[in-house]
Amino acid sequence: MINVGIIGFGTVGTGTAKILLENNDVIEEKTGLQVNLQVIADLDIKRDRGVKIPDGVLTREVSDVIDNPDIHVVVELIGGIQPAKDFILRALSNGKHVVTANKALIATEGKEIFAEAEKNSVSVGLEAAVAGGIPIIKVLKEGLVANRILSIYGIINGTSNYILTKMTDDGIDFSDALKEAQSLGYAEADPTLDVEGLDTAHKLAIISSLAFGIPLSYDRIHIEGITKLTLQDIEFAGELGYKIKLLAIAKSVNGEVELRVHPTMIPENYLISRVDGVLNAVYVMGDAVGETLYYGRGAGDMPTGSAVVSDIVDIAGEIENRGISSHGIEFIGKRSDLKIKAIGDIESMYYFRFTALDRPGVLSRVSGILGEYNIGIAAVIQKGRRAGAAVPLVVLTHKARERDVQKALQEIDRLDVVADRTAFIRVEGEETEGLND
Ligand code: HSE
Repeated sequence: MINVGIIGFGTVGTGTAKILLENNDVIEEKTGLQVNLQVIADLDIKRDRGVKIPDGVLTREVSDVIDNPDIHVVVELIGGIQPAKDFILRALSNGKHVVTANKALIATEGKEIFAEAEKNSVSVGLEAAVAGGIPIIKVLKEGLVANRILSIYGIINGTSNYILTKMTDDGIDFSDALKEAQSLGYAEADPTLDVEGLDTAHKLAIISSLAFGIPLSYDRIHIEGITKLTLQDIEFAGELGYKIKLLAIAKSVNGEVELRVHPTMIPENYLISRVDGVLNAVYVMGDAVGETLYYGRGAGDMPTGSAVVSDIVDIAGEIENRGISSHGIEFIGKRSDLKIKAIGDIESMYYFRFTALDRPGVLSRVSGILGEYNIGIAAVIQKGRRAGAAVPLVVLTHKARERDVQKALQEIDRLDVVADRTAFIRVEGEETEGLND
């Protein structure tokens, strides 16, 4: 019998408790393992969460979990950095295995946590930290273990994906879509972590370290959120055959790794373009397996609880049958020789929306500067005629180097015929036939 203690009886804590209480028979039938929910610690043990907790399980004392000699697995579900970090470190030093859904903590403080786990020969389970119910951690550690991972593209923040889907499908702007997400409980009162791309980057730090063996590299990720996206850009993207998604991108290119989070144009016929609303998806390309795609709910009580319980069951199996493994995290940091690319060194296709005066010769001045920086044009759209006034001029490029793009845009934005700062979005997909091919 493996005894489990949960810290944090919120949304995911409730889902986890429900699964452990109601699906215990399924788990035992499938694995032969008996997992017992022994204690749940929370400051509020009165509120009705819609799940019947047996007498004596709830406590207000966190030490009833982390210092309890009967507990084998401590499940940390309070989120945030402190006091979660201290609780986890204390549980590990007490020789307990830890399961956590805390992406921010693992992405930024994971090194110290893994070291403490190793010192005490116990495991840390992270499945619930990335993409909720989608078992992407298991995919990287086990299912695709035979592969060199070449690239990962993820829609791994349901809040942002919901907002972008609303902007695209209903033509409402960012702030109205955010308000709607907040009223439905998909976005926090302070949505910064989600809409500024930080939550996506926390998750990318974790999966990229498992995929490539680099150390956890949250502070090396180039991060842009969705707050500056306009309806106009979403509409132009649609005309060009693209959807805009907030993507987490990790690629291994010539022995270097690209890590970035930003709004990205993706061809609308790609499966990942059709991942809408709060749903998540992760595309993984391996050298042996080729393309794979994983889709499902990235948040919520039961999907995330499903991931938490899968880690608990794995650890229970290790304790009962197979001794202790470090649960696959030993690969993290082994390839610290791999260089992480600066954003200026990446190559991508780009969408530009210039705000240019409608005057003869403007297009040639803009395209002249692009040409000087080796930026080839694949498509141009100019809408509406307002002689002498500012109109949008949209350009889709071939692959170009980001550093050249930044320099070209600075030069173009200084032209007297350009009335506003140029909007730009990186584009993924096959290169299209170009104007200058
Ligand atoms: N706000 C996050 C999301 C929750 O929308 O994906 C899960 O990390």
